[in-house]
Amino acid sequence: VPTAATSATPTAGEVPGEAAALARQGRFPTDFLWGAATASYQIEGAVAEDGRTPSIWDTFSHTPGKTENGDTGDTAVDHYHRSAEDVALMARLGLGTYRFSVSWSRVQPTGRGPAERRGLDFYRRLVDDLLARGIRPMVTLYHWDLPQELEDAGGWPERETAHRFAEYAALVGEALGDRVELFTTLNEPWCSAFLGYGSGVHAPGRTDPVDALRAAHHLNLAHGLGAQALRASVPAGRTPKIAVSLNPSAVRARTAAPEDEDARRRIDALANRVFSGPMLRGAYPEDLFADTAGLTDWSFVQDGDARTACQPLDLLGINYYAPAIVSGGRVDGPRDDGHGASAHSPWPAADDVTFHQAEGERTAMGWGVDPTGLYDLLVKYAAEAPGVPLLVTENGAAYPDAPDAQGRFHDPDRIRYLHGHLSAVLDAIRDGADVRGYYLWSLLDNFEWSYGYGKRFGAVHVDYDTQVRTPRSSAHWYARAARDGVLPP
Ligand code: NOJ
Repeated sequence: VPTAATSATPTAGEVPGEAAALARQGRFPTDFLWGAATASYQIEGAVAEDGRTPSIWDTFSHTPGKTENGDTGDTAVDHYHRSAEDVALMARLGLGTYRFSVSWSRVQPTGRGPAERRGLDFYRRLVDDLLARGIRPMVTLYHWDLPQELEDAGGWPERETAHRFAEYAALVGEALGDRVELFTTLNEPWCSAFLGYGSGVHAPGRTDPVDALRAAHHLNLAHGLGAQALRASVPAGRTPKIAVSLNPSAVRARTAAPEDEDARRRIDALANRVFSGPMLRGAYPEDLFADTAGLTDWSFVQDGDARTACQPLDLLGINYYAPAIVSGGRVDGPRDDGHGASAHSPWPAADDVTFHQAEGERTAMGWGVDPTGLYDLLVKYAAEAPGVPLLVTENGAAYPDAPDAQGRFHDPDRIRYLHGHLSAVLDAIRDGADVRGYYLWSLLDNFEWSYGYGKRFGAVHVDYDTQVRTPRSSAHWYARAARDGVLPP
């Protein structure tokens, strides 16, 4: 993997070996970034204000039957009007960094052409508020809310969308590059491609496996073109640190039988190597082409595209929630890969793979709790991207809860989840992975996509009637961890 010419790192970093030595004593690196993450459509609301136009998630959530209870992001947690209050809350919790996404159709309403100043001003104010409190902003350029106009023109299955993304990345770079250093191009492109165009459980809700593969390719291209455009657009003298946030699957074969191992290999190609091949190595894996040959000849990939996707990375973002366990050979019953029910599989040419849920504890999403999956991914990607520091750009859990008599929210299960996963991060650092930070998903309860508001991931509870924010006990626990660099019990 090429590392950025500047070999820039987000923090000064320890001298080699020191982070591992500290980790052996249960201590995080002194410069470890403790953060929380959100995304525009999940929190902002204000969907028709200051020139914003609909994104694919506005259209999708307003389509009957697509989300639980018909929930939409129309109001969400009203962050657009409460950002100052939310930044003050982050400061009280002692966060060192905050990852948020820019709503593309707020800052470039038609998905092409000039910027909407009012939209950019919102993010400028947000960033200034963060910087004033000593909180480092990390900007996600794309967290799933494609301007509807671009979907109407064909969306991610069309090559043009990658070029539109690069233009948008340049607008954001020009506007925010003077004050933001950390950027991530795409959030979980697997979901955009395979849930958006394959299973259809995410916007825009299309269900064509070839469109899903075409979308994956154009997201790879968009990442590469977007990273180039961002580097070229920031004001002179500034050097952005550019990441991508993948959601690699910690995929395991259910048994050592050859058909289970082959199912693992195929899902690894469709979940992981379809992105890490181009982005980290500049080439698609041959077995992915062979596995999907019955669907497409991949002629939408042009010479040089995979190399374009392979831009120098300053950081690699890993989002992790739960592992996947697979076997070969179809078992009757609904597919349970944790990505939502659909008659259409998000896995092209892998209909015969069966997904199994782990034994033991589950979150409200039905996802198994298994921190070893995070450890495995960090160690694996540290080896696959040598010289590129890692960030956990998302990790967290939804659990049901209710206030006690004093109106406090106790969430011991979330504390256990965070403790387990942050311990896995420490283990990975101890074993040599260069992990520079961790973003808890999520700062606030918010719109959990097709699950609507019923699934609460926040360290901070939000009362959706009053918009009152109340930190849960996990938020206080996390604040202590960030302050001390050691996990509280
Ligand atoms: C990943 C996504 O990036 C985020 O938007 C979502 O809310 C969480 N996972 C939880 O499902």
